[in-house]
Formats: sequence, structure tokens, C-alpha cells
Amino acid sequence: MTPNMPLPDLLEAVRRNAELPDDCAEATPPQVYTSPEFLELERDKIFNKEWICVGRSDEFANPGDYRITTISRDEVIVLRDRNGALRAMSNICRHRMMSLLEGGGTLPGKITCPYHAWTYALDGQLIGAPHMRDNFDKRNCRLPQFAVEEWLGWVYVNLNPQAEALAPRLAPIAERLANYNVTSYRTLFRVDEIWDTNWKILFQNFMEPYHLFAVHTTTVEPALPTRLAFVQEGGPGFCLYNQGRMPGVAYEYGEAMQNPNPALTDEETNTVPLFGAFPAHVASISPERTFWMSLMPVDVAKVRVFWGVDVHPNAMPEGSERAERIEALKASFHAINDEDKPVTTAIAQNAKALAAEPGRLSPKEKTIWDFQRYLARMLTDRFVLS
Ligand code: FES
Ligand SMILES: [Fe+2]
Repeated sequence: MTPNMPLPDLLEAVRRNAELPDDCAEATPPQVYTSPEFLELERDKIFNKEWICVGRSDEFANPGDYRITTISRDEVIVLRDRNGALRAMSNICRHRMMSLLEGGGTLPGKITCPYHAWTYALDGQLIGAPHMRDNFDKRNCRLPQFAVEEWLGWVYVNLNPQAEALAPRLAPIAERLANYNVTSYRTLFRVDEIWDTNWKILFQNFMEPYHLFAVHTTTVEPALPTRLAFVQEGGPGFCLYNQGRMPGVAYEYGEAMQNPNPALTDEETNTVPLFGAFPAHVASISPERTFWMSLMPVDVAKVRVFWGVDVHPNAMPEGSERAERIEALKASFHAINDEDKPVTTAIAQNAKALAAEPGRLSPKEKTIWDFQRYLARMLTDRFVLS
């Protein structure tokens, strides 16, 4: 293929790729990972319109708790307001576009711009603007509000305030996970990183079990072997697979998993469902923990990876054992990510090469086919879901 393909030709390649039947499916055209124009289109047609996971509800436990995140090209404040509601609003000052806040923490009941000290209430209303004329009416000035939805304890933000609700399109996942009671899981730790790859390469890597036996040979594979992974029916908004678990074998820490949840059947206890909520939230769910990532492109070969682990309320021991368990979980998930990083970086680099060509996919990669069809629906006007 041509390393620098004009955008219309690339979109045609995306459409052709997505229209292949799943038993003849091929990997993604490489320019999809490397084209800056394609990334701008993704920002316009995907990230400006879709639900993006920004954390768990319990991370914003008290009024004033906030975190700054970037969605597409916008800095966003996510916070718990005085009435206990989660809100998302622009982090860009309505005076001269300075960033209002950084990082995260707990606000003292208002937001003050560091540039000229305009002050906003936690609902985004401007309440203070020093040295302004009498003809300036603060009541007409408010930070733009974005849509927020909670689903299974995760918080999602959509830059489009009129966006359709998220839960209906993820209903088959919620049904699949009903007995796990994921909403009750509590945040254990979070990591905010930049990986040197395209966001879609990492999404696809997380959501295909084909590489477990080759890349995670001594880590994941003994507990969650590729041969026990079975892709499930996807939908317009998600992909899903069931990963069988070897009874009595754990990779998260050095002992067998204890099932803390009596609502689970034996089959559920020995299965780890993994879902990808399009476009950029991927998660693996076990009876005792989640392991999930939310992805946001920084440029074509850099992705912000906000990831972490949450635990079932009965899953963690108390006291010093708890601290040890947290360290063990952190270490094992960092080790797994360290196995995925060189792979995902190499693919992003090789995608620029003259000889880069998409090959045939295994049935264990059907989640990639689902994802490619999602991209085609979002980006190419002429793609019709067959
Ligand atoms: S840019 Fe915020 S007060 Fe001036
Ligand atoms: Fe992996």
C-alpha cells in the first residue's frame, strides 16, 4: 500500500475492509494508524460525539471532588457538585481561554481562573469578574456543560450535550455482567500514562486474546489461555469475548483467586468477560476485580492511557495484607502492560513502511472485525451495516 494515501482513498479502504465477511476478515489498513488527516477526522466524527470513560463514580465521592481530562481537543472538568450530581464542563475560561484547573483534587466550592481571577460556581456559572464595566452581566456567562452518564459505576462524558444515552447500546454487556455487580466494585488504583502507539492498535490489542499465548506466555496464559477464549456477538457500540479461566490458577498475585461473590455461577466464576465499549473503553472483569483502560489519542503515534483496577467490596483483605495485595496487583498489571508496550509500539512504527500490509484475522480476533465495522460506520458515509 501507499504510505501516504489521500484521505478519500483511505476511507474507501476502510469501507472495503469493514465489508469483508468475518470469516475472511483482514487486519486494519496501516495508514489508519499513521495518517494525521485520519486522526483529525476521528476527533471530529468520533471523539467529539461519543461517550468517553473518565473514571469511576467513587473517585468523585464528595462535593468538589474533580479531575481534569482531555476529550478530543477539549479540556474538561469532571466534578461532583454541591447537590451531589456529577457534572462535566469546559475547563476553558470564558474570558480569554486560559485553562482553569489542572490535575485533580477537591475544590473549595468555586473555580477561580489563574489569569484574571474570574470565578465560577461548581455548576459553571460565573459569579465573580473583577474590574469589569457595569454593562457586563455575569448572569449570562457560564462554562459550557457536557453530558455525563454513569454505567456500572463508570463515569462517561460526551462533548455533545444532546448525545443519545449510552446504557441502551451497552445493554447486552450489562446483562452479561449482571451477577458480577460491577457497580459495587471500588477503585483500587489508577495510572495515567502515555504509550507510544496509535490508540486503535492498543484498543485492538486489549480486545484480542490471540496474542496471550505468545506475548504473555508466563504471565496471563497459564491462568487465561488463548485456547479458552471465545469471541461473543458484538453490537454497534461494543465488542465482547469470554475468557475461560484455569480453576485454581491466578496471575494477579501468587495464589488462587477467591470468589467473593456468591451470586456467581461456577461457569461465571471460571470466566473472565472482556468488553470494548466503543470507541475507547476496554475492560476485563473477574469476580474479584476489574482491569480497564480508557484511551485518548494525543497524536497518531501517542495515546493517553488512563487505566486501573477496581475490586469487589469483599475481595480485599484488611490491614497490612491489603497493602501487600495492592502492590502485587499493581506489579502484575504493570508487568503485563510492559509485555504489550513493545508490540504496540512496533506496529505503530511498521505501519508507516512501504511493505506494511493487513493480513487475515483469526476467529480469536473477531473483536477487531467488530471494531473495524464501528470505525467504518462512524467515518465513512457510504458504509451500510450488512
Ligand atoms: S482568562 Fe480567565 S480570567 Fe482572564
Ligand atoms: Fe496483551
